[in-house]
Amino acid sequence: MEQTNNIYPIFDRMLTRQDKEQLLGQRSVMIWFTGLSGSGKSTIAIALERELHKRGLLCRILDGDNIRSGINNNLGFSEADRIENIRRIAEVSKLFIDSGIITIAAFISPNNDIREMAARIIGRDDFLEVFVSTPLEECEKRDVKGLYAKARKGEIQNFTGISAPFEAPEHPALALDTSKMDLRESVEQLLALILPIVQK
Ligand code: ADX
Repeated sequence: MEQTNNIYPIFDRMLTRQDKEQLLGQRSVMIWFTGLSGSGKSTIAIALERELHKRGLLCRILDGDNIRSGINNNLGFSEADRIENIRRIAEVSKLFIDSGIITIAAFISPNNDIREMAARIIGRDDFLEVFVSTPLEECEKRDVKGLYAKARKGEIQNFTGISAPFEAPEHPALALDTSKMDLRESVEQLLALILPIVQK
């Protein structure tokens, strides 16, 4: 149940997003990566952050393993927990965006409903969906964390792509297949999309 009784938000007296954006000399936006485990979301997010930072743009990355060992350390991988995971991440992202910060999220966020919820919380106009579309076979071949092998053996339940679904986004702003494109090319495509939006 929502506990919103006796809560009096003071947003109307606080400095606005526009004030923060002006201070930073940038426009904020949400860059939301979605894709399978091992698809390259975090790697691309980190490389993108470095490039934006070099251009004097302030960013914040929110990443699966970090968030799941902190604010979301009480959540697992059931459908309900994945929804709650993304709900909290979207709310936290909104705080960063309202502080004028370019916010980069790298979570599997495995279906349209979950990503739709995030877009609704954050605001559709600020939400850029980027699909890291590296195919399952490639992610499984890489198996950086050894989790696909465990999932195949049944040692991990509800593993996305193996024993839990992944629904590809229908109209992402950009799709990056890291089995066909190197990191530099992915980042270049992202910069071409993002710089005109964030630079004042
Ligand atoms: S999400 O589905 O809720 O968006 P999230 O991105 O936070 O997932 O976490 C995914 C990461 O958790 C994976 O990259 C992997 O390292 C780890 N993980 C552990 N168990 C699972 C599982 N059952 N399914 C998917 N990822 C898992």
